[in-house]
Amino acid sequence: MSVYQATTSAPVNIACIKYWGKRDTKLILPTNSSLSVTLDQDHLRSTTTSRADPSFEKDRLWLNGVEEEIKEGGRLATCIREMKRMRKELEDKDASQPKISSYAVHICSINNFPTAAGLASSAAGFAALVSSLAALYSLPASPSELSRIARQGSGSACRSLFGGYVAWNMGSKPDGSDSYAVEVAPREHWPDMHALICVVSDDKKGTSSTSGMQRTVETSPLLQHRIAHVVPARMEAISAAIRARDFDTFARLTMQDSNQFHAVALDTDPPIFYMNDVSRAIIALIVEYNRVSVANGGKLKAAYTYDAGPNAVIYAPKENLKEIIELIIHYFPQAEPFKDPFGLFGAAGVQGKLVEGFNPAVAKSFGVGAVKGLIHTRVGDGPRVLGAEEALLGANGLPKSIA
Ligand code: DP6
Repeated sequence: MSVYQATTSAPVNIACIKYWGKRDTKLILPTNSSLSVTLDQDHLRSTTTSRADPSFEKDRLWLNGVEEEIKEGGRLATCIREMKRMRKELEDKDASQPKISSYAVHICSINNFPTAAGLASSAAGFAALVSSLAALYSLPASPSELSRIARQGSGSACRSLFGGYVAWNMGSKPDGSDSYAVEVAPREHWPDMHALICVVSDDKKGTSSTSGMQRTVETSPLLQHRIAHVVPARMEAISAAIRARDFDTFARLTMQDSNQFHAVALDTDPPIFYMNDVSRAIIALIVEYNRVSVANGGKLKAAYTYDAGPNAVIYAPKENLKEIIELIIHYFPQAEPFKDPFGLFGAAGVQGKLVEGFNPAVAKSFGVGAVKGLIHTRVGDGPRVLGAEEALLGANGLPKSIA
């Protein structure tokens, strides 16, 4: 008997031009276009196995070993339904295709990073879900077509169907058929883009992106200005900067857009604060680091950006990462020695020092644990189809971890 199963992995993406606001909450249609960099799956990824079998009684899904309810009409159910519909179309067109679209599916997904770290796990998760079902069903769909379905799981997930530099064009049609992700440039075009994620300690439960952005749409006049007068020009300008590998422009726009996103959060009633004192101190350090470079006749050397939480993501050309890591560690001592995946530090190890001319008074030093981890990664590729040996479901169709 045939086993219908596929395993894929998908990457995290971090936006430079932020998606914040929906014009349709059910179809997840945004109020503005957005643009992101896909991060390397060698460091951060979601892996998903999907299997269709006539013996399965209903669709089931396990996330990091725990079964999640697939609520009727919910985001998971929508994505699974849409993928089955595409399979059904294929079967109707091609009689030689086995009729597996009517079978229930078991889906098992894991992240190789802690969900609690507050990284964009839903984006990688829904992208892996959709790409594993596409592989299971042998769908001829393009990444853009798949992104339209991942979008209905979580808006930002549509951008994780591509590697490299990715735009989500907001579209204008009410049915969402023109709201999908496209590649701006593949990672090979600008492979030296690195990213340092500073995982910032956070005790409080923050406002979720989904409810936060809805409140912003309902109450923030600044958001309306952003949508109409700011984002369209920024999308054009940052796409051109990426095509020209112009880091200075890329960095300026990325920092401006992070700042404006947090400004519209603050302009929401009641206001939403995602950054904390540690986040703001990291901004001050990057601003000073760039100031020193410009004062010496150079250009911007790093760009910070923050999503709906206090973690900082610092984009920079590879050549600057050593200085940036030394700078962050100087102010934020680490409990564990820094792991150097790209071999930038050699035998001397990480010192924790400042570049010449840096004004140390721009931020105070924090204790161990304020930045509880550093992840050094870079621009990466899109979803990968993995071999059967990587499958997360056992022969009995249940997660290997609990079988
Ligand atoms: C700040 O994609 O998580 O990270 O569509 O409601 O699932 P939903 O929201 P989500 O929002 C991401 C917001 C952001 C900016 C971005 O990734 O563009």
